[in-house]
Amino acid sequence: MAQNRKLSVGIIFGGRSVEHDVSIVTAQQVMNAFDQDRYEIVPIYITRDGKWYTGDVLRNIDSFKNDAILSQDGIESVVLSPDVRHHGLIMNPLAGRFSKSEVKRLDVMFPVIHGTHGEDGTLQGLFELADIPYVGFATMGSALTNDKIITKQILRQNSIPVVDGITVTRDAWRANRDDIVSQIKAQFAYPVFVKPATLGSSIGVGRADSDELLEASLDVATNFDRRVIVETAIQGIEINCSVMGYGDDISVSVLEQPLSWADFLAFEDKYLRGGDGMKSADRIIPAPISDELTATIQQASRDAFRAVDGRGICRIDFLVEPETGTYYLNEINTMPGSLALYLWQETNLTPSQVVEKLVKLAQDAYADKRRNVYDYKTNLVDVAAGRGLKGAKSGAKAVRS
Ligand SMILES: Nc1ncnc2c1ncn2[C@@H]1O[C@H](COP(=O)(O)OP(=O)(O)O)[C@@H](O)[C@H]1O
Ligand SMILES: [Mg+2]
Repeated sequence: MAQNRKLSVGIIFGGRSVEHDVSIVTAQQVMNAFDQDRYEIVPIYITRDGKWYTGDVLRNIDSFKNDAILSQDGIESVVLSPDVRHHGLIMNPLAGRFSKSEVKRLDVMFPVIHGTHGEDGTLQGLFELADIPYVGFATMGSALTNDKIITKQILRQNSIPVVDGITVTRDAWRANRDDIVSQIKAQFAYPVFVKPATLGSSIGVGRADSDELLEASLDVATNFDRRVIVETAIQGIEINCSVMGYGDDISVSVLEQPLSWADFLAFEDKYLRGGDGMKSADRIIPAPISDELTATIQQASRDAFRAVDGRGICRIDFLVEPETGTYYLNEINTMPGSLALYLWQETNLTPSQVVEKLVKLAQDAYADKRRNVYDYKTNLVDVAAGRGLKGAKSGAKAVRS
């Protein structure tokens, strides 16, 4: 008999990140995109201080007004268990012993947490332990692309152009401000950009065209992160491309030129302004650059996705000087930093089709991973036990001999 059980999808959002609020907004967009007849959406909200909750009330953005979410009815404490037997959530974990009925099985996890503790591989690590398929980049790709310094190194090695930059650590900056300012000025002309290595949404990012501004920007950026990047400012336009896929099956979207606060306006367009809203005055789609440059950037996006072992979806942002055709890859925003659902709409995929495809890609990657051999049995323990362990040291020797 055909199985009609809805696929349960855990949407995790909020989190201990400076991008907490953006995550709440994106999560509502994702939850609404799913066909509610075929998917059971389980919202999971992590507070700013790291407490986990579930409840249908989390699906209403109004509940979050004035930070009043935790005083709403129907909010339940919850944790995602790393124990494979649970394959999901444990409800009310603080109530003491929990029964089978308090385990909520989840088929797929869909992380929608921006930045730290969400986009950086930590949450993905928990999904790996729990052995649940999950949407988006895996642990390594998430951690790597979350770090602007490491990303530059990997891309450069793969012949993808990036803006020149240097790394400044917090300790070095606090110990020796003058030396660092001289070092930067010896290498770059003003203006320069100063950015924390691992944040997003322009938080802590500064543009400096004088020593005073450079120092102030470094003070700000090193407050947010232990490592900071200083790089040449590109005088040009920004171009974004969304990339979706797994393995060798990679698709790229049309390109856009964002004009301001693109991520936030994507939501506003859809839910606050009404109508199809996708073509707003805040972005130009397709981006106003030549067909040739468009194709080059789309190919660079594919190459970059492969270079960082991309999976699921990401939005790749470029800095472009259209007159010369010069382009630099600025950053790779992994899911959920940028679902860019509107870009796929231009490619004739509805938001529902995109989120469903992402769930499918998560299941494919999971199935692929199960082909790896994890259980490698040896007789090491039996041999060690047979010879008798007289203290760890002699035991280890006995096994080796
Ligand atoms: N080297 C640069 N030259 C010109 N503009 C830049 C440069 N680096 C960053 N920017 C501007 O700052 C914004 C935020 O920087 P970005 O690297 O995207 O960090 P975030 O992770 O915070 O989004 C970019 O969207 C772009 O407008
Ligand atoms: Mg950015």
